[in-house]
Amino acid sequence: MTTSFSGTATGRVGDRAARKPHLAVVGATGAVGSVLLGILSERADIWGEIRLVASARSAGRKLTVRGEEVEVLALSEEVFDGIDVAMFDVPDEVSAQWAPIAAAKGAVVVDNSAAFRLDPDVPLVVPEVNAHAARVRPRGIVANPNCTTLSMIVALGALHAEYGLSELIVSSYQAVSGAGKDGVDTLRSQLAAVSGTELGTTPGDVRRAMGDTLGPFPAPVALNVVPWAGSLREDGWSSEELKVRDESRKILGLPGLRVTATCVRVPVITTHSLTVHARFENEVTVAGAHEILASAPGVVVCDDPEAGEFPTPADVVGTDPTWVGRVRRSLDDPRALELFVCGDNLRKGAALNTAQIAEVVAGEMTA
Ligand SMILES: NC(=O)c1ccc[n+]([C@@H]2O[C@H](COP(=O)([O-])OP(=O)(O)OC[C@H]3O[C@@H](n4cnc5c(N)ncnc54)[C@H](OP(=O)(O)O)[C@@H]3O)[C@@H](O)[C@H]2O)c1
Repeated sequence: MTTSFSGTATGRVGDRAARKPHLAVVGATGAVGSVLLGILSERADIWGEIRLVASARSAGRKLTVRGEEVEVLALSEEVFDGIDVAMFDVPDEVSAQWAPIAAAKGAVVVDNSAAFRLDPDVPLVVPEVNAHAARVRPRGIVANPNCTTLSMIVALGALHAEYGLSELIVSSYQAVSGAGKDGVDTLRSQLAAVSGTELGTTPGDVRRAMGDTLGPFPAPVALNVVPWAGSLREDGWSSEELKVRDESRKILGLPGLRVTATCVRVPVITTHSLTVHARFENEVTVAGAHEILASAPGVVVCDDPEAGEFPTPADVVGTDPTWVGRVRRSLDDPRALELFVCGDNLRKGAALNTAQIAEVVAGEMTA
């Protein structure tokens, strides 16, 4: 069955409690949007109509959600008629322009872009850590953190609640899907080009073979690691590194938290990994950290180095939790832990967290 926009949903506050809220997914055709449609199909079906929206390029395409084919609509003011919650999975500038329009039409926007994350009037929410923040949204917008921060923050929030976080030193190993469909297409075509060759044995041979097929990356990502994600900011920092700092501070409610991040792209399709040096106000133990993490919602401990057990992106991809392994107390600091963390950047790192925030908001509407 194919459904399309009927334009008949009314969706004002008065009648919300009597029916399921209507949802719009803006950016339904993208890397995050595609995973979101799968997640909406798997989770409890709390939504009335689900309306799918993308650019005019995709209008008329049919995508499947909840087992039904739904026609994609081109973004316009009218697509928000009767919508209660609008998820935005589009580039920053599209969100910056259109999220306020959707909010003005009465929808609560859950935005995945960086456009509003640091706006003091927009809460930045990870339901396991600060679900309460989603209730106060002066602009009608709730922001979803960036995928790198999200891939570690559930585990760190749990440890912070017990030990009191004072400093984070983070290195990321980021998957190419963090750069969208273009990132995935680039790695796949580069892998095809290097397969069966002797490339990777002399200086610059991979770069020369790739020519101008670098996609969204500043260097070849196949057979390589690239110490760069995002755009250039002051003093050599990348935008991605500043996001990890600013967003971790906001989510945890720790404006003075010391955070240093180095963000690196690796030839993995999906699932970000991070090494984390986390320093706390109080002394820590590995057994205590294991206990806290094992009982934290949304976290799985996978930490038996003797048995060769630790999380890797190839095993974690497609799963919902934050996976934590290699838990060690720092040799020179009894207040610090060393961790290796993996999280699917398209699920908890983007689409799943968006769906969870939207469920919190929908819960208010139907309460
Ligand atoms: N990938 C990740 O790991 C990740 C994680 C967290 C947050 N995010 C953020 O989520 C957002 C989406 O990322 P993505 O990786 O899914 O990107 P993507 O794969 O490039 O998809 C972009 C989506 O935006 C739509 N779009 C682009 N321009 C538009 C316009 N002018 N009007 C309407 N729709 C438009 C595209 O529609 P068409 O197909 O019609 O062009 C597509 O659905 C970005 O803000 C990104 O920073 C991504």
